[in-house]
This record gives sequence, structure tokens and C-alpha cells, in this order.
Amino acid sequence: MKEGKLQLAVFISGNGSNLQALIDACAAPDFPARIALVLSNRPGVFGVKRAKRAGIETALVDHKTFPTRAAFEQAIAKALEGRGIDLICLAGFMRILTADFLSQWAEQVINTHPSLLPRHGGPGMFGEHVHRAVLDSGDTQSGATIHYVIPEVDQGPVILQKTVPVLPGDTVETLAERVIAQEHKAYPEAVRMIAEKQRETS
Ligand code: GAR
Repeated sequence: MKEGKLQLAVFISGNGSNLQALIDACAAPDFPARIALVLSNRPGVFGVKRAKRAGIETALVDHKTFPTRAAFEQAIAKALEGRGIDLICLAGFMRILTADFLSQWAEQVINTHPSLLPRHGGPGMFGEHVHRAVLDSGDTQSGATIHYVIPEVDQGPVILQKTVPVLPGDTVETLAERVIAQEHKAYPEAVRMIAEKQRETS
């Protein structure tokens, strides 16, 4: 906890609107966290532009350039080294992290998922697939979940959830829009909760 603030690494693969929500939250002087690094596994994504615009250091670790998942994760570990990272925030990061990697960062990796887990989670459940599954299921509610990451995909302990209604006539797009607005509120709230808990115990 450098300067009393939780040091974050935010992992992205795309647009980075959740990253933006964290950047905006961290801009408030009393917010108990700062983003030390934004790591993308995909070149040229808009999220990296958001980070650069905010003056945040970025790292590209392109999974396509590594022969194995272990080599990819070693490169991630190297990018994180020496930065005093306290918490890794997955924000639309579309790679599954192995048990090996997660064991080095036990209880220090969190994720945002666009449904009310445990509903509509698991391998292959990301982005529009999740909203399609919600609409097909007939659920009358969906929402955002911020949770700890464990090797079992989307099964880690929930930190907080925000609920939205599923409305008659909803499409994947209209539902996605309603859910992501809640993710943008939930993610900074979850980071604040974790930072405050760590302050109390340190
Ligand atoms: C978010 O809705 C996030 O929950 C989802 O990808 C989107 C990323 O948007 N992640 C998953 O579905 C992971 N299972 P963003 O790049 O604009 O933050």
C-alpha cells in the first residue's frame, strides 16, 4: 500500500469502459486506490488509449506471441514485478488465468461479470453470450457481479452485486447497456471496500 493507497493492476482485452470507471474513481483524491499498471493481452485496443490518456503505464502481453499458457503467464508476472501491486482487477480480460498464476496472487485478483453469478457464469460465458443466456432463460433480473477470482471460472466469492430488471422487449444490446452501467458503479465500490478492509487490518 504505497502512500496509503491500494496499488492496482487492471487487466483488459478491449474497450475498457470498466477501466475508465476505475480511472475516474481514482481521480478523486480521497479514493483509496491508484492504478499502477494497465495490462492488455491484445494490441491496439481502446482501453490502452484510455490508460495512456490518463498517464497510466501500460504493458502489452500478447498471448498470441507465446507458445504456452505458462509462458504467457510468466510474461504477465514479469510485467507486474517490482510495482508493489496489491490487487489485480480483471476488467473485460478475456483470458482464463491458471491455478498456478492465481496461487501466486491468492485473494488478490478480482473480476467483473455481467450477470448475477452464480447464474450465467463459467467458461464461454462472456459479453453478449451472457446477456443472450439471460434473455433465453426468462429471468426477470440480471445485473453485475464483482467477485474474487479462483481457478473455477466465475465461482469465486462474491464481493458485491447490483441488480437490474430484465424488461419486456429487451435485446442483448439494451440489457448489456443497463448492466454495464451498474458494473461501472460496482467496480469502484468493490475496490473501495477492499482498500478500506486492508487499511483496518494493516
Ligand atoms: C464487461 O461487461 C465485463 O463484465 C465483461 O466484458 C465487458 C468488458 O467491457 N466480462 C466478461 O464477460 C467476463 N466473463 P469493457 O471492456 O468496456 O470494460
